[in-house]
Amino acid sequence: MIGKDSFNDKHLIRRAAEIIRHGGLVAFPTETVYGLGAHALDTKAVARIYEVKQRPHFDPLIVHIAEYQQIAGLVTEFPPTSQRLVDVFWPGPLTVILPKSQSVPDLVTAGMPTVAIRMPSHPVAQELIKEAQCPVAAPSANLFGTISPTCAEHVRRQLGHCIDLILDGGPCSVGIESTIVSFADHRPMVLRLGGITVEQIEAVIGSVDVANPSDSRPLSPGRLIRHYAPRTPLRLVEATPQPPTGIRVGLLSYNTVDQEGFAVVEVLSKTGSLSEAAANLFAAMRRLDEANLDLIIAVKVPNQGIGQAINDRLYRAAQK
Ligand code: TXA
Ligand code: MG
Repeated sequence: MIGKDSFNDKHLIRRAAEIIRHGGLVAFPTETVYGLGAHALDTKAVARIYEVKQRPHFDPLIVHIAEYQQIAGLVTEFPPTSQRLVDVFWPGPLTVILPKSQSVPDLVTAGMPTVAIRMPSHPVAQELIKEAQCPVAAPSANLFGTISPTCAEHVRRQLGHCIDLILDGGPCSVGIESTIVSFADHRPMVLRLGGITVEQIEAVIGSVDVANPSDSRPLSPGRLIRHYAPRTPLRLVEATPQPPTGIRVGLLSYNTVDQEGFAVVEVLSKTGSLSEAAANLFAAMRRLDEANLDLIIAVKVPNQGIGQAINDRLYRAAQK
């Protein structure tokens, strides 16, 4: 069921927290995408996340916290560079990877010696985690490999029948997932581009390595190349082409509205704002996917700032 307008419904959030404390699953809004939350230290509850999402067990989960003190019980080291970064960007769309403590179940980290931690800024997420009084493991609340949900309705359609509660906190303001920075090695490495840009990170901790999107394996088991994928074939191009004839083609465009010859056109930001484009990306991909098209043509957005994370998602969606 969906809890309408969870912003103003303290009672509903309290109930959601109780469900989590007792081993249930609650979908909740964050500023990036909706998460599917369970008690992070309850192995049975975490196992249900994998089951409901149909997610392979080699793909570890992010642990969400609401207060800085919670981190102490989850990690064995908290290097000063990682502290500087979270001081600036938490609460917000940043996830850090740190050496895990014994209290974090291996199922959460898929057997890895590290754990991913994030403090979301969405008020409903914060309230939920505080009320639950436990760290909350949460992947995006979608079936594995499909487009991440940016509103409660997306979650309801895919997972509504098999989870305990959906908190509705409106559309996600950032719209793409958190940036993941690993501190597992000496040099910090960005494993996933997301809501915080590489430039923003480098302004705080100096230069960082950025994992190549086509190199999915060694560092982050879940960085599968094909991800965020619509069912309709998607082709990624540099500039709007002439529409192919004889088939129904949809266009995913950055800011150009006027596109003749396409069956459907989705414009990510008429004003050319990359953050607006990010917020609209997944919902636009879904609408195109539901429009009975033979092909989606997506045009790359300017590769700056959060545009890099948008292009990364488009690149993955285009993989066969
Ligand atoms: O914005 C977000 O991060 C959203 C919201 C709900 O917080 N969550 C999210 O979770 O995107 P998920 O499960 O869809 O993506 C988490 C990614 C996966 O690619 C996983 O492989 C990686 O984080 N990850 C988790 N733990 C890791 C670890 N210990 N080492 C490396 N990568 C890890
Ligand atoms: Mg996901």
